[in-house]
Amino acid sequence: MPSSVMPAARRGGDGQPSPAAVSAVGLRKSYGDKVVLGGIDLDIPAGSVFALLGPNGAGKTTVVKILSTLIAADGGQARVGGHDVATSPDGVRAAIGVTGQFSAVDGLITGKENMLLMADLHHLPKREGRRVAAELLEQFGLADAAGKPAQSYSGGMRRRLDIAMTLVGKPRIIFLDEPTTGLDPRGRHDMWQIIRELVSGGVTVFLTTQYLDEADELADRIAVLTDGAIAAEGSPEELKRLVPGGHVRLRFADPSVYRSAGRALPNVARNDEALSLHIPSDGSQRELRSILDRLDSAGIEADELTVHTPDLDDVFFALTGSGVVDRTKENVR
Ligand SMILES: Nc1ncnc2c1ncn2[C@@H]1O[C@H](COP(=O)(O)OP(=O)(O)O)[C@@H](O)[C@H]1O
Ligand SMILES: [Mg+2]
Repeated sequence: MPSSVMPAARRGGDGQPSPAAVSAVGLRKSYGDKVVLGGIDLDIPAGSVFALLGPNGAGKTTVVKILSTLIAADGGQARVGGHDVATSPDGVRAAIGVTGQFSAVDGLITGKENMLLMADLHHLPKREGRRVAAELLEQFGLADAAGKPAQSYSGGMRRRLDIAMTLVGKPRIIFLDEPTTGLDPRGRHDMWQIIRELVSGGVTVFLTTQYLDEADELADRIAVLTDGAIAAEGSPEELKRLVPGGHVRLRFADPSVYRSAGRALPNVARNDEALSLHIPSDGSQRELRSILDRLDSAGIEADELTVHTPDLDDVFFALTGSGVVDRTKENVR
């Protein structure tokens, strides 16, 4: 993988880190005939949270593996923490922490022992290692459980231990591959809180997720990965602006009223099973009034009216549903 085509990494002569924590141009990866990544670009400022959002099989873990030097890309370039992943993998590894989709925690030993093992791996002096381990166990709410075998931990506790272990090496950039998949709502919220704390400490977080609300909640920028290409990228607000996904939803109890309403209103999408109608709308007072006026003049009363403003779900479906994905596929080829 040639490293000369990378955008200039602005580094001073004193080796100051580049302002981009992660940057990539044209990353490609295939397995046999299957194109997993068809050339993706990334530019993630230091100190921010970036979410790579995509369904199962989209290529999220593949991106994380390439950026964390676990596997090599077939083409393109990437810099992480100011180091080229192809030519300076040791530099990259020294700058990052990775919490994989599958935990690195050893269940047979205690939480504390797992931490001390990491401290040894990072060649911390014994006393320093014990101090760092104790601090992190405390910070992650694991001090009480520190003496118990990790296999007795809940899913959320294991994830917390996993992240605490990656922090032993004081990484500037951490990769969290689906950190909340499989956690219960409480565990997810705990994890969100941990991620926010990491960021307030200045760490750059590269997060993958299948959950739109999670990306919306945590990320400064989101890239939607589908079929090996980034279909859209931006702040949560920018992505929401991409699609006019807002609509008014009317629900009816009586099928005949439902049918008359369908005739009275323009541009409706019907859901015959739910007896509900969706009318595209920006949710403004003017549009609502026009809908209500039409219902009134037809003598129709809806049993329920809800206004739905665009959220990331709308973006996701707009991008992965019709049209857009087909264009994306053409780019991949
Ligand atoms: N080592 C491998 N050999 C063959 N195919 C792979 C390998 N790793 C991943 N894939 C395929 O690449 C695609 C993307 O995988 P992955 O990056 O794990 O997706 P995600 O993390 O978004 O679920 C999937 O179709 C997967 O089956
Ligand atoms: Mg994955």
